[in-house]
Amino acid sequence: MRIVSGIQPTGNLHLGNYLGAIKRWVAMQDEGECLFFLADLHAITVYNDPAELRANVRAMAAALIACGIDPQRSILFNQARVPAHAELAWLLNGTARMGWLNRMTQFKEKSGKNREAVSVGLFAYPVLMAADVLLYQATHVPVGEDQKQHLELARDIATKFNTDFAVDLFTLPEPLIGKAGARVMSLRDGTAKMSKSDPSDMSRVNLTDDSDLIAQKIRKAKTDADPLPDGVDGLEGRPEARNLVAIYAALTGQEAQGVLDQHGGQGFGAFKPALAELLVETMRPIKQRLDELNANPGELDAILERGSARAAELGRPTLLNAYEALGLQR
Ligand code: TYM
Repeated sequence: MRIVSGIQPTGNLHLGNYLGAIKRWVAMQDEGECLFFLADLHAITVYNDPAELRANVRAMAAALIACGIDPQRSILFNQARVPAHAELAWLLNGTARMGWLNRMTQFKEKSGKNREAVSVGLFAYPVLMAADVLLYQATHVPVGEDQKQHLELARDIATKFNTDFAVDLFTLPEPLIGKAGARVMSLRDGTAKMSKSDPSDMSRVNLTDDSDLIAQKIRKAKTDADPLPDGVDGLEGRPEARNLVAIYAALTGQEAQGVLDQHGGQGFGAFKPALAELLVETMRPIKQRLDELNANPGELDAILERGSARAAELGRPTLLNAYEALGLQR
């Protein structure tokens, strides 16, 4: 089992990233060889202040380690330090089809009505993502629901490349999408994904929020006036209630029904403080470790350097074979 996944080093790590991806990365460290990276090359598909980007790579590395990614067991690195990602992405651009990329819903959402003005990188983004996982022959890719379509594209690119060049080069990666936490929604709108790019900070819980702020965000989270139902069917048509129950379930590692068995019939006046308390308790040890790590930026750079060297070594044979398959002399 070769597990590979990435996260963009922009903004703060929020609860959606944590429950949809990172918490599961941490658990998977016991199940196979893991490579986790900061997708800094993806970050530049929209404008990022260079100094901020540099700081965010370190900050996100620290956040991942604080959450439990162990750089002794897993390979932790940033894309930009491993040029093979960019190289393979270019090679795969010859295989990926415009029509496939045109169907990517994330591109449609991010570009909106502004199609002509967005960067070429934003359009080609999923090809780089394919390179990220194909380079390492990833078998499993733990991600949130929103990345599923990108991974299906990676499988299509791998299949076409293998077929067109009559090679058995790329392994088809399997997306691993959890049940609980796969799609954490905004605290202000139960129909929108919790996201770093939402202008309202009240829409998300960040890993770095202090206890008072977390409690305040949960208290102010949008809900309806009814108490929690006894069964999951009762969450139908109540996206905000469903989201808070799903968050509680993901944090405690149970199904939504388990949460309703315990809290069904309760109003939000009682349920919200219980959820806030749970969040604060989950975040407390993570934040403590984060403070320790941030005190030592040199160590973070050293970890990323080491991880990048190991990743480059693991990716090298596949990269060379891809050049070879295409008839390129490198
Ligand atoms: P990114 O940085 O947007 O998010 C990182 C991970 O968090 C998940 N996630 C969520 N899960 C549940 N609910 C949410 N509201 C939520 N928001 C984000 C994402 O699904 C993701 O797993 N393109 C990727 C980064 C990437 C990558 C890769 C991932 C680059 N190369 C190769 C896997 C494999 C991205 O922008 O994720």
